[in-house]
Amino acid sequence: MSDRSLLTLVLGAGLGTRMKSKKPKVLHHVAGRSMLAHVLSLTSEIGATDHAVVVGPEMAECGYNLDKWLPSGAKVYVQNVRLGTAHAVLMAKESFEGYQGDVIILYGDTPLIKADTLKDMHTALQKGADIAVLGFHADNPTGYGRLLVENGKLVAIREQKDASGAELAVTFCNSGVFGFRGEVMASILERIGNDNASQEFYLTDAVEIGHADGLNVVAVECPEEEVLGVNSRNQLAVAEAILQSRLRENAMAQGATMMNPASVHMSYDTVLGQDVTVEPNVFFGPGVVVGDDSVIHASSHLEQAVIGKGANIGPFARLRPGAQLGDNTKAGNFVEIKNAVIENGAKVSHLTYIGDARVGEGANIGAGVITCNYDGFNKHHTDIGKGAFVGSNSALVAPVKICDGAYIGSGSVITKDVEDDSLALTRAEFRVISGWAKKHKERNTKE
Ligand code: UD1
Ligand code: MG
Repeated sequence: MSDRSLLTLVLGAGLGTRMKSKKPKVLHHVAGRSMLAHVLSLTSEIGATDHAVVVGPEMAECGYNLDKWLPSGAKVYVQNVRLGTAHAVLMAKESFEGYQGDVIILYGDTPLIKADTLKDMHTALQKGADIAVLGFHADNPTGYGRLLVENGKLVAIREQKDASGAELAVTFCNSGVFGFRGEVMASILERIGNDNASQEFYLTDAVEIGHADGLNVVAVECPEEEVLGVNSRNQLAVAEAILQSRLRENAMAQGATMMNPASVHMSYDTVLGQDVTVEPNVFFGPGVVVGDDSVIHASSHLEQAVIGKGANIGPFARLRPGAQLGDNTKAGNFVEIKNAVIENGAKVSHLTYIGDARVGEGANIGAGVITCNYDGFNKHHTDIGKGAFVGSNSALVAPVKICDGAYIGSGSVITKDVEDDSLALTRAEFRVISGWAKKHKERNTKE
């Protein structure tokens, strides 16, 4: 087997009419990132040395920042009019014309494909195929291109709209993943026409041309589950469900317990440590890391939050971007934490908002405490020291500092810094007027 270089080419132009969306189809999310991002991240995993991506003009119009996901050195080409998959590939012609290596084409609407399958495609090329097509046996082939095999040879791919009755009965389908030997690719692509029901330039016609040229055209097979092509919101939901069960199975294989896995929603990058327990109905948005032995109680919502070991989160906790909770911390029911560091052993147990703040080691935040971080124009910081105790129903008006070991009386509105180990409280004086309630009742009854 030769050790040739590898170029990947990802196609992602168009809104996808059946999505009924204003944004490009490949930008729709599964497991916390766009389908395109899933496919792009794979291209780096299979050891490709060169990368090209074809997108539509809508990508820039909708303000999407593709850079975050592009493999290094990737070139982006724009297909201004959507004339079919072969036309899209030709937009990147400069990247593959005369390429001394192998080329793998992927569709951005096929996010479930695995790296090992792409490696199988690369192997087929390295073993001498000029064109390789990734095929699968479909339970329901409707909508997919059919792979037509004669005497064991792949001779053509027929799109649904162009297929005869007998061809429609074929269940061996085109996944969209194509491999080419770089040297033959441009000449084949240039000969593809648009004489078909959609009047589109189909990449799939490369098979018929290659076959007529006497090239070695092969089909590589993979499980259907990996190559679901998303053309509608329904298929998007199916892809999401498959990815979710993969992510959950992986988390459990790494040593996390899920009491009701089907009710837990993960993101592509969720990290759960060993012996983490996740109760039912928990949502992990992107960027969540949970340390060993922590418990995420039912109905909690977490995104871009990092949690240490042995923490106790929820039920009904909301951890927003920038929440960093140390070891043995607690964020109890109806607690919201945003852009805040909760140091080791600190507890925020009930009905509290902590935003733009630090809560020092071992501090205790009582029920109903609010950091008033926003003045209508700017956000300000609240600093709560080590071992401080903030009594229930207090408002901490930022910027403000509660120093180590200080004590805030319940119901206080704290607008000034509080020094170490002192007590601060802002309350009207406590008064009792004996018998007042009885007299009040009598007066009103007579009237
Ligand atoms: C395509 C295949 C079909 C295959 C199916 C697998 C063709 C002609 N048909 O059909 O054989 O079974 O995928 O899911 O290739 N794109 C562009 N520019 C274009 C057209 C498409 O960039 O002008 C991109 C789309 O963004 C998408 C991908 O190419 O990511 C496939 O296009 P789509 O319209 O979804 O093709 P299918 O009808 O699904
Ligand atoms: Mg498709």
